[in-house]
Amino acid sequence: MPALPFYPDQASTFAGEVDALYTFLILLSIVFGAGIALALVVFAVKYRRRGPDDRPELIHGSMALELAWSLGPLVIVMGIFVWSAALYYRIQRAPKNAMEIHVVGKRWMWKIQHMTGQREINELHVPIGAPVRLTITSEDVIHSFFVPAFRVKTDAVPGRYTSLWFEARQTGRFHLFCAEYCGTKHSGMIGSVVVMEPAAFQEWLAGGPSLSPAAEGEKLFQSLACITCHRADSGARGPSLEGLFGRPVALSDGGTAVATPEYIRESILTPSAKVVAGYQPVMPTFQGQVTEEQILHIIEYLKTLRPAPAAAIPVPPAGAPSPAARPQPKSSPKP
Ligand code: CUA
Repeated sequence: MPALPFYPDQASTFAGEVDALYTFLILLSIVFGAGIALALVVFAVKYRRRGPDDRPELIHGSMALELAWSLGPLVIVMGIFVWSAALYYRIQRAPKNAMEIHVVGKRWMWKIQHMTGQREINELHVPIGAPVRLTITSEDVIHSFFVPAFRVKTDAVPGRYTSLWFEARQTGRFHLFCAEYCGTKHSGMIGSVVVMEPAAFQEWLAGGPSLSPAAEGEKLFQSLACITCHRADSGARGPSLEGLFGRPVALSDGGTAVATPEYIRESILTPSAKVVAGYQPVMPTFQGQVTEEQILHIIEYLKTLRPAPAAAIPVPPAGAPSPAARPQPKSSPKP
């Protein structure tokens, strides 16, 4: 359906569907609003009091009328519910193959990190025709990531990871807003989403010298000395993190947790909240030492740690590197 002039560009795959639902709601409101206003005027004239002794006739109800005004609206609102719930679920569930991008809101800017290492501020470059999933958080207060042309908006909440996905279907530059009042420069927390042809996007991506988030995370893992306790050998003070991501973890209080990004973030900032079974609560907090972006980097690094093959742990062959000296995935020997 063609865009009405008061809608922004329909630049994502579900923009048209959101607009169709919205248009339906507006038309329905107009039909009922106008109908009721009209009936009000007609009845006021038709049933006006015609003299001092004019009395209305007594009415004893009508089953047909009761059914009509109960069932009619029921069908209409249930229709709206089913239609909008179906659309809501599609908007909420990102496809598995979606391209991952990290977004951190901070007074008063949007910091964006691509998985190839490219970083940008207040600009988001994406390819046309490919699903993109944003993982969003905030470094301070609640912000809201809003791209009107895509009909998507998700809050950036401190201490939580939210997500949003879209598939752009039109190249160009589109508004990006913060849609949650976040302080004096809230109105300046704006930027743009640039939708590019896939080839141009690949070229743009290649233009960045930065390390990938996983590589950044690995560097942090070394520099923050996480590696001294989180080793794969049995004498380690902390649990091994290999193959951890996405797995259930037994806790010392008898419960279980799943190693989600939220769990990993909590374990870095509040290590005593969920202590892994068999370990002492000896880990210090890293609150104030790592930014939200760095936590996301560490999570990306942990995602890359595959479980070590069972046989490799107990008896390393003579001359082989110890289990603690993990192979560096991206490094190549210097010429
Ligand atoms: Cu950030 Cu408003």
